[in-house]
This record gives sequence, structure tokens and C-alpha cells, in this order.
Amino acid sequence: MKKRVIIDTDPGLDDAIAILFALGCGKFDVLGLTTVAGNIGLDRTTGNAGGLLAVMGRSDIPVIRGADIPLTRELQDLIAIVHGTDGLKGVPLPEPLATPLDNAPDWIARTLAAAEPGSIDILALGPLTNVAHVLTEHPELMDRIGEIIVMGGTINEPGNSGPNSEFNFATDPEAASVVIGSPAKVTIIPLDVTRKVRAQIDYVEALPDTQHGRLARELLTVYLQDGRQSRPLHDPCVMLASLEPSIFTVESLKLDVDLGDDPDAGRLLIDRRGKPVDVALGVDAERALALLRTGFV
Ligand code: BDR
Ligand code: CA
Repeated sequence: MKKRVIIDTDPGLDDAIAILFALGCGKFDVLGLTTVAGNIGLDRTTGNAGGLLAVMGRSDIPVIRGADIPLTRELQDLIAIVHGTDGLKGVPLPEPLATPLDNAPDWIARTLAAAEPGSIDILALGPLTNVAHVLTEHPELMDRIGEIIVMGGTINEPGNSGPNSEFNFATDPEAASVVIGSPAKVTIIPLDVTRKVRAQIDYVEALPDTQHGRLARELLTVYLQDGRQSRPLHDPCVMLASLEPSIFTVESLKLDVDLGDDPDAGRLLIDRRGKPVDVALGVDAERALALLRTGFV
């Protein structure tokens, strides 16, 4: 049985790899790509999501535009250095096959309302604004969600936004706080594990010679073009954790989110009064990379 998932995303180079894997591995029934502003503005993330579906010939999967700003804060423009001014560092994609739909939180709510309890997972690859809207505006639909797997945060690793804060959670700390504090089953995939699952040039060059394998190579090659030997595959880890949870070692931690105005807003705080959340703290990187490759054959 394929896993029925909604992918909430801000593509983004590593989002693009995660989406291509999800579409290529044959193990997910992707109900829709809901977009959010994050790595780049909403028009770009939405266009990139449509372009990725076009590469895979998937006109049956809708793209739904979501939040163009965080819940309460301004969108920060800090990330162009990683993902370029188009979100994909200049890698061209075909035109989307269809016009995107509007209002991702509303579309997610309608999709959940029509589903059996526990039958849909949300794979969240960007700031959690859309997901937080759904959880706060439709608490009655919580039981339809199997699990929410989130790339975000850091526990023991330094941050990549503030000194101890990670980009997705730092972009919309209030949304991260809503999702982490919700009664839904939430699993967090933080920098502690995503930084261990790394693309190196030999791995990239050995990706299969399929259409989406070639695109993945191109995307990862520009991702590596900052002179580094390897780059972390943050968002693909969410897909891998969904398919093969045993690749990750998960601990239950009581967490809160720093909602201050300091440079570390969005930081995860271990707090005895916080809600217990599953957090991946260990990963078998070799197995993770091997599984990822299988999505591109
Ligand atoms: C996260 O931030 C984004 O730049 C990536 O796409 C990933 O979702 C990593 O901190
Ligand atoms: Ca992302």
C-alpha cells in the first residue's frame, strides 16, 4: 500500500530532491504539493513545485499556493546564497502543466475532511505556516492525520539561521510552536541528523541516468558549487523517515520553541513542561543514501 501524503514545501534545492524522490520511488501516493514562502518567495516556490511535477509528467497532482508570509513575522530574505534567487540556483525546469490552486490550508482541510482517520501523512519541508493554519483552524480534523514529519530545528548542532536556530523554524517560530504543541503525532527531523546525510560529488555523479536522476544530479551539482566537498540533504530525510523509520534513532523530548525577538528565535528549547515530541537524533547515513538512490532508478 502506498503512503498517502501531502507534501508542504518551499523548493528549494533540497526540497526538489525530496519531491523527485517521492514521485520517483513509487511508494507514495502524493495527493498534492502545498507551497509556502521560505527559501524564496511564494511565486517562485509555487512555480518550482509545478515545474518539478512537469518533469515527472504528473498533471494529476495539484500544486496549491499557501502562505506568502509567516503567521506573525516578516519574511526574511537570507537564503539566496544557498538556493539562488530562483530557489534552484539557475537550474531550469519546464513550465508547470497546470495553474496552481489557491489557499493551501483550506485545500488541506478539505482533503483531510474527506479522508479516513489516520490515513494521510503531512511531510513538511519548509516553514510550518500552512500546517499551523490547518491545525489551529480545524482541530476537528486532527484525527485524520496519521503523522506529521517535519524537517526543522536543531538540538545539539549549531544553527544555520541563528547560532542555535534552524532556518525553517526561525522563519516562522510561532508556526513551529503550534505544530510541536499540537496533539497530532509529530516527528522532527533536525539538523542533528540531516547534516549527517550528505551528498558528495561521487554519490551525485553515480546517480542513475534517468530523466529525474539527471535532474537530481544537476540540482546537487549546483548545490555543491560553493567549493564544499559535501552538502546536507535536509528535506529528503523526511521522505526517508516516512518510508524507513528504522534508519533513524528517535527519542522523545519535551520541547518548546523560542518565540523571542532575538537572533535565535525559533530555537528548540528542552523544557520539562513542554510537550513530548519524537525527535530523530541518530541516523544510519549509509542506509539513508542507499535508499535515496533507489528513488532515481
Ligand atoms: C531547511 O532550510 C531550507 O533552506 C532547506 O530547504 C531545508 O528545508 C534546512 O535548514
Ligand atoms: Ca525546504
